[in-house]
Parts: sequence; structure tokens; C-alpha cells
Amino acid sequence: MADKEIDEFSGTETTGHEWDGIKELNTPMPRWWINTFYITVIWAIGYMILYPAWPLISDYTHGYLGYSSRAELSAEMVVARSEQQVFLDQINAASLEEITASPELQQFATAGGRSAFLVNCTPCHGLGAQGAPGYPNLNDDDWIWGGTLEDIYLTIKHGIRFTEDWDTRDSGMPAFGRDEILDRAEITDIAAHVRSIAGLEHDASAAARGALGFADNCAACHGDNGEGLQELGAPALGDAIWFYGKSAEEIAAQITNPKHGVMPAWAERLDDTIIKQLAVYVHSLGGGE
Ligand code: HEC
Ligand code: HEC
Repeated sequence: MADKEIDEFSGTETTGHEWDGIKELNTPMPRWWINTFYITVIWAIGYMILYPAWPLISDYTHGYLGYSSRAELSAEMVVARSEQQVFLDQINAASLEEITASPELQQFATAGGRSAFLVNCTPCHGLGAQGAPGYPNLNDDDWIWGGTLEDIYLTIKHGIRFTEDWDTRDSGMPAFGRDEILDRAEITDIAAHVRSIAGLEHDASAAARGALGFADNCAACHGDNGEGLQELGAPALGDAIWFYGKSAEEIAAQITNPKHGVMPAWAERLDDTIIKQLAVYVHSLGGGE
């Protein structure tokens, strides 16, 4: 102990180490710190005995309690799945009306429908089902093929103009320009008339000339006032919602050489319980009839 002297400036004991005249002071860690450290060591030893801790070559130390987070997860999954199965069985057996009549089933179906929608439908209809040009918005109350639960269910199940499904929704608009049913001037006039019934800015004399052509060629499918006809999938033209564009040029292009939307039939890929849930979800988005 003779070499441990007291440093004269700080009054602290030195460790006795000295380099080039610089002496090391002995300032130990505070007691509370050391004690906390010992407690963590003891806790760690206890943990290693009770729980899985050390990796071995092909296994690991399982610990006295034999705990495994994977086993716990699978146990939870089994419980969750059996709870889900109860609902899925009920949805399978229930009609669409019965599902929406039961708050519990409705809630389960909407949640299931939402996740199936995210996986299968968002590439075309958008994350919020808001649609895109050529892909209809499913949140509004404007339905090309009908907005009742049953209509939506059939649309999803059999698709639209999907040639591999016999029951697919099918219809077509004649190519009035390409097939020379109407000439360019007539098409321009009818397009002006379509804009007039939609309340859009238009050339009034052209629209008046186009009225007769509209009644003769278009009203059978789109209705006398452009209200649309769901049996034929003919969209309403008198409203503010446009599938292929509302400019005079876009309307004239549709009359000349129409575009036709195609949606696959989902009965091939999804089971009926999921299609029912999708119908309930889409119907719940706000525009269901
Ligand atoms: C045989 C039925 C039928 C006739 C006749 C018909 N259409 Fe259509 N029309 C449709 C269908 C079906 C669609 C929807 C195409 C789709 O869903 O892709 C459509 C779509 C349209 C659209 C696009 C609507 C939008 O929201 O972008 C316009 C515009 C239109 N028709 C105008 C006319 C005009 C004008 C005439 C008369 C010259 C006419 N149609 C005659 C069936 C018809
Ligand atoms: C490959 C693109 C595509 C995918 C994926 C798709 N759809 Fe569609 N969907 C369309 C098109 C295009 C139309 C409009 C067809 C037409 O009438 O012209 C449509 C129309 C609809 C309609 C009818 C809307 C109305 O106004 O009547 C519903 C309902 C619908 N889709 C639901 C779904 C659901 C649910 C899914 C997922 C299971 C889905 N769609 C996936 C392209 C798609």
C-alpha cells in the first residue's frame, strides 16, 4: 500500500500507476451503479436458465421453462383460425341480405372484403376504390351494372365482357363512325347534344341538330335523357361521372370507335365466401343501392 499515495490537488488516492510523471487517480464507479450492474448479471443468469439463450451447432438451449415464441404464435393462430372459421361458415350459409342484417357478420365480411380487395382489385380500381380513366369508381352511387348487393356480387363473380365465363356481363356499343352508320358531322352534333344533357358547355345549334340522331341511335341504350340502362351496362350520360372522358373529342371518339371495359370473372380465382365478402365491402363503400 506504500505506493498508493494521495494526490495533493484532488485529495484522491492514486492507483500507483505512473507514466512520465502523470499519475492515475483511483475514482471508483458509484456504489449504486456497481449494484445495478450485479443485479443485471444475476438477472441474466436467471434468464439463461429459464429461457432459450445460447445457440448451439444445430439447436439451442431451450431453457427450463421451454418457452418458444413460435409455439406461442401457432397456438394463437389456431385459436384465431377457428374463430374465423365460425364466421366463414356462417357467411357461406347466409344470403347476402342475411349477412348485412347481422352486425357481426357484416363487420366480419367488410373487413375480409377489404383485405381481399387490397390484394385483387386495387391494381385496376385504386387503393381507395376511386377508379381511374376506364376503371370505374366504386365509391359513388353511379353504377354501370347495378349497385344492389346482388348486382355487385354477380359483376364480381362473372366479370364483365370476360369471354371465358358464360354468365359474364356483356354488351357492346356499335362503332357508329368506324362502321359508317353516322358521318363525322352527325357524330359532332350528337356529341354536342350529349354535352348539353350533361349540363356541360356546348354549341347550342349543333346540340339541337344532334337531338334527333341521339333519339334514333343512342336512346335505346342510354335512355331518352341519357339516364343509362344497367341491364345493358350502358352508363348514364346525363351526370357528372365519365368513364372515358367528357370533352367533345372524347365523346366523339367513343361514338366513332367505342372502348369497352373488360373485367375478369373472379369465380375462377376466389371462393364464393370471399366473393360474398367483397360484394358486402364494395356495397358498404357508400354507393350501395
Ligand atoms: C347497344 C347499346 C348502346 C348504344 C346504341 C349506344 N351506346 Fe354508348 N355505350 C354503351 C355501353 C355498353 C357503354 C359502356 C362501355 C364500357 O362500359 O366500356 C357505352 C358508353 C358510352 C359513352 C362513354 C360514357 C363515359 O362515361 O365515358 C358515351 C359517351 C356513349 N356511350 C355515347 C353514346 C352515343 C352518343 C350513342 C349514340 C350515337 C351511343 N352511346 C349508343 C352502349 C350503347
Ligand atoms: C384488370 C382490371 C380489373 C380488376 C383487377 C378488377 N376490375 Fe372491376 N372493373 C374493371 C373494369 C374495366 C370495369 C368496368 C367494365 C365496364 O363496364 O366497362 C370494372 C367494373 C367493376 C364493377 C362494376 C361497377 C359498376 O359501376 O357497375 C365492380 C362492382 C367491380 N369492377 C368490382 C371489382 C372487384 C371487387 C375487384 C377485385 C376482386 C375488381 N373489380 C377487379 C376492371 C378491373
